[in-house]
Amino acid sequence: MVTTSQDKKKETVDDTKRDFLLYSTYTVGAVGALAAAWPFIDSMNPSKDVLALASTELDLSSVEEGQSITAMWRGKPVFIRKRTADEIKLAKSIKLSELKDPQSDGDRVQKDQWLVLVGICTHLGCIPSGQKGGDVKGDFNGWFCPCHGSHYDTSGRIRKGPAPKNLDVPPYRFTNETNIIIG
Ligand code: FES
Repeated sequence: MVTTSQDKKKETVDDTKRDFLLYSTYTVGAVGALAAAWPFIDSMNPSKDVLALASTELDLSSVEEGQSITAMWRGKPVFIRKRTADEIKLAKSIKLSELKDPQSDGDRVQKDQWLVLVGICTHLGCIPSGQKGGDVKGDFNGWFCPCHGSHYDTSGRIRKGPAPKNLDVPPYRFTNETNIIIG
């Protein structure tokens, strides 16, 4: 069959129509998928009460030397300890070569007296003991995780046991001598 120029023109017009239909279908498909996914995506956004706890502000003026308090930040316990002079001295005297996760005490604190830690064992996530006066503090006088026996020192560094890392230091800042914002 001989193809005339009119046939060619018709073919081109048909192609354009087909392309338009295809694009329309894709667009509708994409919008439909997004609309269907929206409740799911929206549900992944933090709720207002969680956002409100994105940072935690505390007045530490009543915390005494040698005392620890536990705050909550983003659903995690945060240990804040006002260290004694002996604890600070001990933390600073340790050589990095003795540490499993080498980190100097100076890199873990902003003010020598205040140690701020996420109170979650870096092994499998238990909460170590050592916050209260009568608690077992482990062989290095810091914190002890009874789940599998991890010992942390007075800088929250892992010294013995299966935990691979030091206790995390959360982001924080002091707004004056004793007011702290965590997060
Ligand atoms: S969870 Fe702390 S030692 Fe295993």
